[in-house]
Amino acid sequence: MVRVEDLTVRYVRGGRVIEPVSGVSFALARGELGLLYGRSGSGKSSIINVVAGFIKPHRGRVYVAGVEINRLGWGEANRLRRMAIGYAMQQNILLPRSTVLFNIMLPLIIQGISREEAEDKAAGVAEELGIEGLLDAKAYSLSGGEARRVVVARALATGRPLLLLDEPTSNLDEETSLRVWRAIESRRRSGATILVATHDQAGARYADKIIEVSPS
Ligand SMILES: Nc1ncnc2c1ncn2[C@@H]1O[C@H](COP(=O)(O)OP(=O)(O)OP(=O)(O)O)[C@@H](O)[C@H]1O
Ligand SMILES: [Mg+2]
Repeated sequence: MVRVEDLTVRYVRGGRVIEPVSGVSFALARGELGLLYGRSGSGKSSIINVVAGFIKPHRGRVYVAGVEINRLGWGEANRLRRMAIGYAMQQNILLPRSTVLFNIMLPLIIQGISREEAEDKAAGVAEELGIEGLLDAKAYSLSGGEARRVVVARALATGRPLLLLDEPTSNLDEETSLRVWRAIESRRRSGATILVATHDQAGARYADKIIEVSPS
């Protein structure tokens, strides 16, 4: 489902080249859960962003569902994401003046799913993650851990075959984290392929693969 071959990511910062990801390779088959572990700054989010097609690699190849996502134009990459990838980036990017319910169902609406079905799916995932009481709240009013769960809920609610989750349990207490891990695990059991960047050691017991990344 996902294949990353000899991936190198470079940035230019203040006239200097930095290469946080250098020669990383791994693959996840359908129904596998892979964890990206590594210190802060080791390039985990960079890898997630390349797999999602948001940034281009300096070197290497990334295949998603057999397609080299980084070779697609913006519109085609968008279409592939809409079909195949549910993602939760590290920042809590939400529509602040919209409700939690609307934020969670937005990808489904864009995908063309009926409003009722989208609402049902969104409400179901919200309950799994313990944010069902917040569905009518405006996103700007949420705490950090609540907003995090809304972002994760939005990714899970898509039901897409590949989930990319960047620090899904950051800002959460142990018990709430466990709830999130269980929800992730249940997607894996239903056949989703999942790549999670995390510092949370609690995730290790759910993983089929652990990909250690280290700063170069
Ligand atoms: N757009 C960018 N331009 C310049 N440098 C960047 C850019 N994006 C990331 N970096 C740098 O690349 C390195 C890796 O960043 P990345 O966000 O991938 O790390 P990370 O492992 O996800 O860290 P964390 O655990 O703190 O989330 C960092 O030093 C970061 O400052
Ligand atoms: Mg990160």
